[in-house]
Amino acid sequence: MSNSPKDPTPGKAWSGRFSEPVSDLVKRYTASVDFDQRLAEFDIQGSLAHARMLHAAGILGAEDLKAIERGMATILEEIRGGKFPWSLDLEDVHLNIERRLTDLVGDAGKRLHTARSRNDQVATDVRLYLRSAIDDLLALVRALQGALVDLAEKHVDTVMPGFTHLQVAQPVSFAHHLLAYFEMLKRDAGRLADCRKRVNRLPLGAAALAGTTYPIDRERVAQELGFEGVCENSLDAVSDRDFAIEFTACAALIMTHLSRLSEELILWMSPPFGFIMLADRFCTGSSIMPQKKNPDVPELVRGKTGRVNGHLVALLTLMKAQPLAYNKDNQEDKEPLFDTVDTLTDTLRVYAEMMAGVTVNQEAMKRAAAQGYATATDLADYLVKKGVPFRDAHEAVAKAVRFAEHKGCDLSALSLAELKQFSPAVDEGVFAVLTLEGSLKSRNHVGGTAPEQVRAAIKKARAALG
Ligand code: ARG
Repeated sequence: MSNSPKDPTPGKAWSGRFSEPVSDLVKRYTASVDFDQRLAEFDIQGSLAHARMLHAAGILGAEDLKAIERGMATILEEIRGGKFPWSLDLEDVHLNIERRLTDLVGDAGKRLHTARSRNDQVATDVRLYLRSAIDDLLALVRALQGALVDLAEKHVDTVMPGFTHLQVAQPVSFAHHLLAYFEMLKRDAGRLADCRKRVNRLPLGAAALAGTTYPIDRERVAQELGFEGVCENSLDAVSDRDFAIEFTACAALIMTHLSRLSEELILWMSPPFGFIMLADRFCTGSSIMPQKKNPDVPELVRGKTGRVNGHLVALLTLMKAQPLAYNKDNQEDKEPLFDTVDTLTDTLRVYAEMMAGVTVNQEAMKRAAAQGYATATDLADYLVKKGVPFRDAHEAVAKAVRFAEHKGCDLSALSLAELKQFSPAVDEGVFAVLTLEGSLKSRNHVGGTAPEQVRAAIKKARAALG
């Protein structure tokens, strides 16, 4: 308690027991209002639900509730209109709004904080924010999945070389390749939806850490705010940010998947591949080399993946070794979380647009598949079906590939007599399996690259997207 009659920390919500004000540096260091302003609308939503519950429980009078509702409506307008008087002296979004409310409606504003603490308040705000972000992101993931299916639909019969070790392995349908990313995004969406369930729990009522002495009704608040239930332990409710970590892990995986696709787009667009072209609006030129068209957008997606992965590590490290319950460390959860949401939102948006603008050079894809002995496995399988043991077939085909390599041609360009040198089991039927189309067609089972299967996969994907 200050001994001097003059308050050293005028306006602070917690000023009573302090004898000197914080320095400007400490004020700046400890404040979060510059970035947690973003929570404002959720803070108001939470406060209104809290006030209505206080009133229903007989803790807050009807007049006070009305005043709070009126004040909050004004504040919301001020915030949306960019007219709210944000102040660094008031530390964070919560104290800024509470102070403004009190300025507008008097004592009712001061009563709002009954039976709660900023600890359960901030945890509630972050959860409301993240739930809404997840809903927006889920829609964006689906839009990107849709763009992939649209492109796939046009390229079921487009043959490209499938790679392992970035060496031509076996021919695949380009649509099949695109649908691999559809599957990754499907799991990503599932993870986000699952994470949402754990985000969607109400911390409010935990107060500072131990609960409150007032007869509150947490279920009512949960219901009004659309939460699936309440956090069941007050210490856990105010302190853990595992839900934010889990979300960021989901985001890091999405970025990781997109960075793989980006890497492929970059390779495919490079002149030695020449498989695809991105629309000009996703590329830039070089200031010195006039021939260049650089795939800036996929490169940045690849780069920004590092940034989101970094946020995941930041949040894990933030949480690690924090004793129960709330610690100010947790104020540091916001910037990594917000930046993860922003980065992922922009990335998904730009990606869906970019995939809609991809043009494909089918000839280049086919040429590359034909040059890489992509049907060597098919030849081996053919021999096996003729009764040759697999290991011997493998050896015979390896020799045939070497021979073709010396001749500088594809397996399908060898004559029957030439092929027969490597195995007497070869007959005229061999040429059907040496074509790229034949190779694709023969992988006709669920998950295989046969056009028939790919068409079925596209149908299923469309149905799943609704
Ligand atoms: N700005 C704080 C945060 O983001 C709000 C909670 C502050 N609680 C406290 N006891 N200082 O975590």
